[in-house]
Amino acid sequence: MSELNASASGQFTLLDRSVTRLGFGSMQLTGKGVWGEPKNREEALQVLKRLPDLGVNFIDTADSYGPYVAEELIAQALYPYDGIFIATKGGLTRTGPNDWPPVGRPEYLRQCVLMSLRRLKVEQLDLWQLHRIDPKVPEDEQFGVIADFLKEGLIARAGLSQVSVEQIEAARKVFPVTTVQNRYNLVDRADEAVLDYCTHEGIGFIPWYPLASGDLAQSGGPVDMIANAHGASPGQVALAWVLKRSPNMLPIPGTSQVAHLEENIAAAQLELSDDEFEQLDKAAASAK
Ligand SMILES: NC(=O)c1ccc[n+]([C@@H]2O[C@H](COP(=O)([O-])OP(=O)(O)OC[C@H]3O[C@@H](n4cnc5c(N)ncnc54)[C@H](OP(=O)(O)O)[C@@H]3O)[C@@H](O)[C@H]2O)c1
Repeated sequence: MSELNASASGQFTLLDRSVTRLGFGSMQLTGKGVWGEPKNREEALQVLKRLPDLGVNFIDTADSYGPYVAEELIAQALYPYDGIFIATKGGLTRTGPNDWPPVGRPEYLRQCVLMSLRRLKVEQLDLWQLHRIDPKVPEDEQFGVIADFLKEGLIARAGLSQVSVEQIEAARKVFPVTTVQNRYNLVDRADEAVLDYCTHEGIGFIPWYPLASGDLAQSGGPVDMIANAHGASPGQVALAWVLKRSPNMLPIPGTSQVAHLEENIAAAQLELSDDEFEQLDKAAASAK
């Protein structure tokens, strides 16, 4: 085990598989606007190949990243995965750079799952998350087909993304919800109630955009000062803060660069004191 290791962030169990809490998000391994090939394909492959050395065994992806590019790179770099847990998503179509129209028709969601299986070269997806609930399709049709995927063994676990507590509760009447993936970071706390619900109910909460700390990272700001005290970067402080916020938190910082990956994983070793945690919490609340 190299000294730099994600396992210092602790473990979380997704049904019957334990993962390191600090994972990796693969959205940055594509072109501009999350469209097409990455600027440096070789570096993107190197980032993925470095993950096992760093103890990272939880990777987030989606069919829509590229589209298809991120899943294909993951398969090229890491198949047959050797214990790495891969969470993917479906339900968003791509009509150009930065365009993501949702399509929740059950037959389209089934195509998403079947094509992710093919690209990732597996017979069952570890975790498949509905990227967005499509407001144009009845929720029960979308949830019902996810229950079918689980029953048919196409997916081992299912999750949701950008949802409210009410939507999670409605989904749980139809299938067991293993994870929820919503935007959340030190300065974006709109989904505090969703996080608390997930923590109480034993659901994994995957915060996306976890590195952000906004103006708090400016020179002399609270993130900057705490970072300096620990010899750390603002991004590492932001990650250490979310990791301390809840034992169910599974942040997936993303990067296209090996050096940034190593810096992000080093955050697993950064422990904030209770006082530092509170200080950042208060500063974020008053910065709103
Ligand atoms: N469910 C959803 O709707 C949803 C939406 C968005 C994202 N996600 C998932 O969440 C993951 C993370 O979210 P995110 O990519 O939006 O945000 P993020 O991981 O918080 O930030 C990524 C950005 O920070 C930069 N970065 C990363 N590490 C850095 C470092 N050490 N120093 C300086 N810059 C650094 C990256 O650029 P470089 O490549 O240059 O490092 C990139 O611009 C994504 O990969 C994806 O898997 C999910």
